[in-house]
Amino acid sequence: MKKSSFVLSLIAVFGLNISYAQMPSMSKHAQRGVQCTACHDRSSFKPAPVSKCIVCHKQDELAKKTERLNFISKMKNQKTGEIKEHMALINPHDSYHFGKTEDCNDCHREHRQSVNDCATCHDVKAWGMKEPK
Ligand code: HEC
Ligand code: HEC
Ligand code: HEC
Ligand code: HEC
Repeated sequence: MKKSSFVLSLIAVFGLNISYAQMPSMSKHAQRGVQCTACHDRSSFKPAPVSKCIVCHKQDELAKKTERLNFISKMKNQKTGEIKEHMALINPHDSYHFGKTEDCNDCHREHRQSVNDCATCHDVKAWGMKEPK
């Protein structure tokens, strides 16, 4: 959708009093015909909770899709020479820190550029992860 018609539809549905000017245009969802109301209640305009997302994206399936990212990490004990292996759980949908409980919006944004929350602290390039859409 073009930005102008996006703005028009905002005005039509919600009146003029929301800050639509701050919302960049379109996303993966608009192109697939996912309506505003799949994520927002008509009456209030709060950021969509995870409960809305998982109506369409099942968390278990999601975790399976990105499970391949987990890898075996090897660490050598410098004194003994012993090598220890463990699975590094970098699957963003079932991670070491948060399991399956992390809020989708920490990474996937609807009206702004998405970010990888793990990159706040880790070098995610080394993990071979795609940019979240
Ligand atoms: C797939 C779910 C989804 C869809 C579809 C969606 N939104 Fe959102 N919306 C969000 C999320 C998540 C946020 C908060 C995070 C962000 O800004 O990306 C948000 C934030 C907003 C906000 C700001 C609310 C605030 O308090 O910060 C407005 C206004 C808004 N959306 C309007 C719309 C309109 C209008 C549409 C339809 C054209 C729409 N949204 C479609 C998920 C969605
Ligand atoms: C009404 C159903 C519906 C809801 C609700 C919904 N989505 Fe989607 N989403 C889709 C469809 C359909 C697609 C496009 C097909 C696909 O790639 O799965 C999509 C695509 C995506 C993609 C891009 C996948 C890719 O690699 O192309 C992401 C990321 C995503 N959704 C996250 C979210 C998040 C986060 C929320 C909650 C804020 C949400 N979705 C809510 C139906 C939905
Ligand atoms: C820590 C950041 C992070 C969180 C939190 C997160 N995702 Fe993702 N998501 C990603 C990344 C990164 C990818 C791409 C991974 C890859 O394929 O390399 C992705 C991929 C996806 C895809 C495409 C999957 C595919 O391969 O078809 C969908 C759909 C999606 N996420 C939805 C969600 C939903 C819904 C939630 C909340 C339940 C969520 N994500 C939580 C980072 C995140
Ligand atoms: C606020 C900073 C911060 C964020 C955000 C963060 N981490 Fe971490 N992470 C750490 C610290 C500090 C450690 C080392 C201490 C520990 O193990 O808890 C760590 C440890 C880990 C480990 C264990 C190391 C190993 O070899 O197994 C994994 C895996 C990991 N993080 C994955 C992730 C993933 C995936 C994300 C995003 C979903 C993420 N982290 C987000 C700070 C962070």
